[in-house]
Amino acid sequence: TTSRLTISLLKIYRGPIIHSMSHSAAEFCKIVTIIVSHGIIEEIRDSDLEPCPGDTKIVAKEGEFLMPGFVDTHTHACQFSNLGIVIHDSGEGHELLDWLSKVTFPTEEKFSDINVAKKVYAAVVKNLLAFGTTTCCYYGTLHLDATKILVDEVKKSGQRAFVGKCNMDKNATYPAYVEKDAATSIDETKKLIEYIRSVNPDTKVDAIITPRFALSCSTDLLTGLGKLAGKYSPPVRIQTHISENKAEIRQTLAQFPECQSYSAVYDKFGLLREGTILAHGCWLDDEELKLIQSRKSCISHCPTSNLNLRSGIARVSEMLHRNIEVGLGTDVSGGFAPSILTEIRHANMASKALELSLLQSSVVPRPSLSIKQLLYLATLGGAKVCGLGKVGNFKKGNYFDALLVSVRADAGNPAVWWEDLEDLEKRLERFFFCGNERNIKKVWVQGNCVKGEANY
Ligand code: GUN
Ligand code: FE
Repeated sequence: TTSRLTISLLKIYRGPIIHSMSHSAAEFCKIVTIIVSHGIIEEIRDSDLEPCPGDTKIVAKEGEFLMPGFVDTHTHACQFSNLGIVIHDSGEGHELLDWLSKVTFPTEEKFSDINVAKKVYAAVVKNLLAFGTTTCCYYGTLHLDATKILVDEVKKSGQRAFVGKCNMDKNATYPAYVEKDAATSIDETKKLIEYIRSVNPDTKVDAIITPRFALSCSTDLLTGLGKLAGKYSPPVRIQTHISENKAEIRQTLAQFPECQSYSAVYDKFGLLREGTILAHGCWLDDEELKLIQSRKSCISHCPTSNLNLRSGIARVSEMLHRNIEVGLGTDVSGGFAPSILTEIRHANMASKALELSLLQSSVVPRPSLSIKQLLYLATLGGAKVCGLGKVGNFKKGNYFDALLVSVRADAGNPAVWWEDLEDLEKRLERFFFCGNERNIKKVWVQGNCVKGEANY
């Protein structure tokens, strides 16, 4: 025991675990011990381990289990003040392009004042951690200074994240909300990358290049950003929106008449590459899926937003079948909750709606998403979308990014029904479909407790 003490102070977790192995396989272990040193999983074993002085040990109580933290592969930190507001005062639901110019851009424009950023961003990050999001891909606004504040808040919080400054130099449907020109946009993006990677570097936080979508970028800007990604070592990831809404697709193809498809536009500018996260993809056809798969780009599935803005239903089962990496995205505030649990539910409902509608048109559909697939999308799939090889499940050598979930009666509604769930698969399903953030008792990122009692 003395030799162990000289190596490190261990954190020992004992209890049931549920984690994903692939999009078709998961492990449900009734009782194991996870031994964590410096935030990294050193060992997972069946037998117990007594703590030495200086170690900490947490033993799951009846009705609790450990699972990997949630990965949110797409959200807009700058839109949290609009949460729940899509229908607005027009009396009818906005769709994407209208909503952007009438609801979203006016709110984002306010981040030219860094005091707004200071007020909003700290709360956003804290909220997402409380909802169990241990890794998050953030869009900021087009403002460099405000986005630096988002970076600072993420680093302070201990969350794992990618942070991007929006690039937009065209089609300002809200007049004040556009950058001066492509050169300025690219220059400020470089400054943000350097700020994230060089000033107080944190291995958990990286930059991400964020052309908003093709419609808001000039060809100079798309060209410049396509080249920028590969100029860094390691290369900087890219995030953007694709094929979300019918009117958006029509306008995009009109703006780039030389391109066969929406995906071909990004491909033309070198933006469809390994490390690119494409949000939505509701209307991607088979040819586009083939192209995206061949370029090793990934999809962020945002079902709450896709239904809320009446955008469409992405063919997630088809994407998984084609070995495209897919994760979930809350897309606040197209989506109305900062919660991956909500996305899990809506991913399942959307996949059932798609299956049923295909049956009606006599097409043989792929089956709707299973519990194992939902677990994958929310954790390991999301980690792969982010290019994070050591996150997403509890393999030895991985970072300990985890949730302690309680389905006990005292952890929230609908309490009285939780008690007798011996079967871990049922327990997970119950949590996914009727749980909420109150069932998430503790959250760890790289072994640090970011929700719950800090000394664990
Ligand atoms: N497409 C371009 N910008 C946005 C945005 O902010 N939200 C969503 N959902 N789609 C977009
Ligand atoms: Fe979005």
